[in-house]
This record gives sequence, structure tokens and C-alpha cells, in this order.
Amino acid sequence: MYICLCNGITEHDIRACADEGACTMRDLEGCLGVGSYCGKCKPAARQILSETRAEPRLKLSGAPA
Ligand code: FES
Repeated sequence: MYICLCNGITEHDIRACADEGACTMRDLEGCLGVGSYCGKCKPAARQILSETRAEPRLKLSGAPA
């Protein structure tokens, strides 16, 4: 689903950016340009970012606990 129509950024793009280390809206704007034009996407992008950061990371099998 498109989140930022001005820049053609999808929810998947935002989650991928968060998985690569984006922690703040400023990170997302720098990485993808989210919210850099009209800003209407910022609440939804912020929500996706917080959801992604709250999700448990997959553990590698065989990795020490
Ligand atoms: Fe994202 Fe306009 S919808 S900047």
C-alpha cells in the first residue's frame, strides 16, 4: 500500500528502511524522502515505524540465547 503518494513510497519501503536501521522520522525522510513534500503521510509513516521497531526480531537457529 502506498503511504507517501507524493514520493511513491510504500509501507514495504518504510519497513525495509526501518529494518536497515532507521529509527526516527528524520531517518525515514533522509533515506526515502517520506514527508518531504506535503507531509500528510507522516502520521501513517510514524505508525509503521513504531510497529516495525516493536516487532520481535527473528532469532537465527543455533545462535546462543
Ligand atoms: Fe508524503 Fe505528501 S504524501 S509528502
